[in-house]
Amino acid sequence: MMSPSSLFLIFALVLNPAVGYVMPDGHTGKLPSLGWNSWNAYHCDIDEDKVLAAAQALVDHGLRDAGYTYVNIDDCWSEKTGRVNGHIMPNMTRFPDGINGLADKVHGMNLNMGIYSTAGNATCAGYPASLGYEDVDAGDFASWGIDYLKLDNCNVYPLNWTDQFIYCTQDRSDINLTANGTCTQQLDPDLAPAGYDWRSSNTYERFTRMRDALAAQKREMLLSLCIWGYADVYDWGNETGISWRMSGDIGPYWNAVTRILNINSFKLNSVNFWGHNDADMLEVGNGNLTFEETRSHFAFWAAMKSPLLIGTDLTNLSQTNIDLLKNHYLLAFNQDDVYGAPATPYKWDWTWDPYSPAEYWSGASQMGHLVLMLNPSNDTAQHKEAVWSEIPGLCDGSYEVTDVWTGQDMGCLQSYSAEVAVHDTAAILVGKRC
Ligand code: GAL
Repeated sequence: MMSPSSLFLIFALVLNPAVGYVMPDGHTGKLPSLGWNSWNAYHCDIDEDKVLAAAQALVDHGLRDAGYTYVNIDDCWSEKTGRVNGHIMPNMTRFPDGINGLADKVHGMNLNMGIYSTAGNATCAGYPASLGYEDVDAGDFASWGIDYLKLDNCNVYPLNWTDQFIYCTQDRSDINLTANGTCTQQLDPDLAPAGYDWRSSNTYERFTRMRDALAAQKREMLLSLCIWGYADVYDWGNETGISWRMSGDIGPYWNAVTRILNINSFKLNSVNFWGHNDADMLEVGNGNLTFEETRSHFAFWAAMKSPLLIGTDLTNLSQTNIDLLKNHYLLAFNQDDVYGAPATPYKWDWTWDPYSPAEYWSGASQMGHLVLMLNPSNDTAQHKEAVWSEIPGLCDGSYEVTDVWTGQDMGCLQSYSAEVAVHDTAAILVGKRC
């Protein structure tokens, strides 16, 4: 017999095929997920102490109360040698209480527990994965108290699980693209013909198997696809999980931020309640990102309505970055439960250039219009002006303006201009007419 959650999903899809993977409580998964993930901070070097320290820091820094409630373990949490009696076994040296014991502690802090697997034969780091074991793994995750699953896309073998066609995406180093993003190189297997429905693909099958296995459990668990923008996931991700990675991995450097921003600027039509392009985990606090680069990165991830998963050692995060992650206006925009659409570029003056993404963005919200103006120049400050009549939903005249970075009321303005430092972003809220 079908579980109540499967019936609910079918009901929701029949009622409205565009609706996403709606959870039975009618709320969880509607908005971008907020939380922490272990990968960017620790890669495979994870253990219970580190995860609990991150959870405690979410509480201590007020991040939980600001909405960051998911504590997600990424790759490398299990025994590497293989399944035991058909089950993935947690590494009991690193996780002495098992994942269930850790999940109890995390839940005791009023946080949610996330875990990681792969829709392939091994995870990206070579640990046992879920292809062919979806029901077993979903059952284990449910019994351990898991609330969220990140499902990755590595090691898809044997060959009968690879796709018939290649999806042509900008973010593939093995395919040449012209400046306007057209594929120029035919590979074996061939590029998908125009109009090909990726719901016929093995990729779709691999990810929807896990969707169905999770839906068959009594516990509600969110599914987040780590599919790197492949297989035209923008078309079908919404009926499969609550979010889907739209690019390859981020790194703690500026070119990675602008590369993802550039790709996502072309892909934002698929973003709304219940379904979000995942621009990858945050690098706030990592690498050599400058103050300006860090706040531009956070502002755009929030504005694009990406999940916001902190990816740093939270016990070592500066107060400036804690305050950035709690920025009231950016979080409120990201988590607006009346306006589902993301901010988008409003001047169509950019191309497929990973170093030079769109500079002028806006999006409507309950608070008014969020406007971001990025300076991508590597060496020169730029003068930027927000002209109301250029911004969708606004017209000539005067509006109340608030500076998103300082919260300062800028008064009643006919336009807004600012000197924007290298790699910085001017961020304002344009409120009521005045
Ligand atoms: C990658 C994924 C990363 C991380 C890593 C773990 O495929 O994009 O976010 O999960 O695998 O091995």
